[in-house]
Amino acid sequence: MSTQLDPAARKLAQSLVAQGLEGARIAFVLGSGLGAFADRLERARSVPAADLDGLPQSGVPGHAGRLAVGEIGGVRVLVQQGRVHLYEGWSPEEVTRAVRAYAAIGVRALVLTNAAGGIRAGFVPGTLMRITDHLDLQASAPLAGAPRGFGTPWDAQLGAALEQAARVCGVALGSGVYAGLLGPAYETPAEIRWLREAGADAVGMSTVAEAAAGRAAGLRVCGVSSITNLAAGIGHAPLSHAEVVEAGAKGARSFCALLEHAVAPIASALRGH
Ligand code: HPA
Repeated sequence: MSTQLDPAARKLAQSLVAQGLEGARIAFVLGSGLGAFADRLERARSVPAADLDGLPQSGVPGHAGRLAVGEIGGVRVLVQQGRVHLYEGWSPEEVTRAVRAYAAIGVRALVLTNAAGGIRAGFVPGTLMRITDHLDLQASAPLAGAPRGFGTPWDAQLGAALEQAARVCGVALGSGVYAGLLGPAYETPAEIRWLREAGADAVGMSTVAEAAAGRAAGLRVCGVSSITNLAAGIGHAPLSHAEVVEAGAKGARSFCALLEHAVAPIASALRGH
């Protein structure tokens, strides 16, 4: 285990191993309403967050708070159902603790997923968007320490693996830039106009800190946004978290198919071919 880990992340990493959750090279983080993918695992072992030392637990509905390991097509994967958010009051260190612990127990690829509002024209509810890059507007400084850079944390080769998976299973997959805001208020229509001008295609309240911290910990990072609503001012529907969770669950079939088919190409990208 890396000596650079802070004590809390180290404790969590040890707890993951003690609970039999080690041995996966690919980890998935499932966002609001997207937990159903965990049901696709074969030979699964599932552990509630409460049984893991140092894993922060979300109080937000739609986030189950469980970790599971299991196999997809013979490849062992780790699946985190639910995440904690800065808007709940968790610190950047807590929000990124799990991904840093995954890196410490041998995970190499991180697949981050989230529910998001669609900004780009045509990004209607049900759209799946591969994340090509992000705007971190959370101002949380998820990387404590000296300034450093790695371009974008979003890995082009893993992105190509997601595209390949989409072709194989016949799921339409868009691509674009995810803007991560602090929340918990949904955006104003003026903010969405500004975000569109700034190059954002989808907007949410998670993911960017995990992506940066995961990359800094040596993980290769890719991700998918499930568009659950039109962003503020674009659609007419009032925004509520319940609506987001329900819409996420509705799109679950294609979302799960995409992730299932992504395991083999991601594993192959990790092997270097
Ligand atoms: N804005 C921010 N976060 C979100 C949205 C949204 O419209 N939809 C789902 N998560």
